Amino acid sequence: MKITEAAKTLHTTPRTIRFYEEQGLVKPRKGENDYRYYEETDLWKLQTILALREVGMSTGQIKEALEGEVNREAYLNLQRSALYEEWLQIKDMITTIDEMLSKQKETTLTTDDVFTLAHQLKVTKQMLKNWKDQWNFDEQAKEYDQSIKTTGYRFNVHEHYQEALTKVSELIEAAPEEWGVDIGTGTGNLAARFLENGANMIGVDQSEEMLKVCSQKHPKMDLRHGHFLSLPVMDHQVNFVVSSYALHHIPDQEKELALAEMDRVLAENGRIAIADLMFENKKEKDRTLALYEQEGNQEAVEAIQDEFYADRSILIDWFEKQGYAVETLQLNAILHVLYAEKRNI
Ligand SMILES: C[S@@+](CC[C@H](N)C(=O)[O-])C[C@H]1O[C@@H](n2cnc3c(N)ncnc32)[C@H](O)[C@@H]1O
Repeated sequence: MKITEAAKTLHTTPRTIRFYEEQGLVKPRKGENDYRYYEETDLWKLQTILALREVGMSTGQIKEALEGEVNREAYLNLQRSALYEEWLQIKDMITTIDEMLSKQKETTLTTDDVFTLAHQLKVTKQMLKNWKDQWNFDEQAKEYDQSIKTTGYRFNVHEHYQEALTKVSELIEAAPEEWGVDIGTGTGNLAARFLENGANMIGVDQSEEMLKVCSQKHPKMDLRHGHFLSLPVMDHQVNFVVSSYALHHIPDQEKELALAEMDRVLAENGRIAIADLMFENKKEKDRTLALYEQEGNQEAVEAIQDEFYADRSILIDWFEKQGYAVETLQLNAILHVLYAEKRNI
């Protein structure tokens, strides 16, 4: 179809479509008299671009997201992820307004409150927009399962990998038919432990390529494009949340938001288990880094500084404040498992 018809179908303007074309996001076929013809695949792509723009993604970021072979399922997956992001932002805005209204009713609403609440909202939005995959997980996807078996480095982050996954699955003790979500599922190694026991698993990941490898390995999994800070899952939809080797890819100031997202999707008396690279607290982090420095293990120092290993005490604190009972265990200098059980009164 021609540009005017395409614009009508997608409820947008020919000018907008032309703009995306100039940016190299769509390349319609040129026909007679140099007219552009939009095929079905162009429409899918445009529809996805419009949805991603709606949640504030830049054209550059969209270009990256739509690179390579993208099929219909992946387009829909990306659109769903964008809609969840939008929905969560609107929910956040409503909560902020509710807070303002209740303060206003108690006549305690000050101008400072208005600015603070509005600022909080902006910060959350900004965090979502700013996160970037600086490790290029798309590129790692095909080799990932092989890379976790590699040993012999002076600093091996995957030491005790299998033990950590086993521990997470033992702590969660999923019953058949329960629903769980694995965040940063990668190639699905952790989720597989639960699928084996008959649980239903939603796998969330920001990397399309990881999701592709995962779907080949585990066709039964419900795979969703999404982010720690905006889970493509409804409120209270799952019985448990798990995550392994993923939380340390989001900065510390975003971790509480990620925990709040886990809490949002969890049903009554739900459970959360996180296996990840972290330190017991700030003191322990400084002590470990100093030790590696002393040993001349620069590889370890750089690896730790390149990522965002959590301060476990802050995570525990957050969970306890939300009424969770927390258990932890440490598998080596950098690998911990944190288990939190929601106590609904
Ligand atoms: C090191 S891999 C771990 C994969 C798997 N959980 C495992 O234990 O083998 C990290 C995964 O987390 C995903 N990831 C990183 N940051 C993420 C984020 N902010 N939201 C969603 N997924 C994320 C990456 O795309 C990657 O697939």
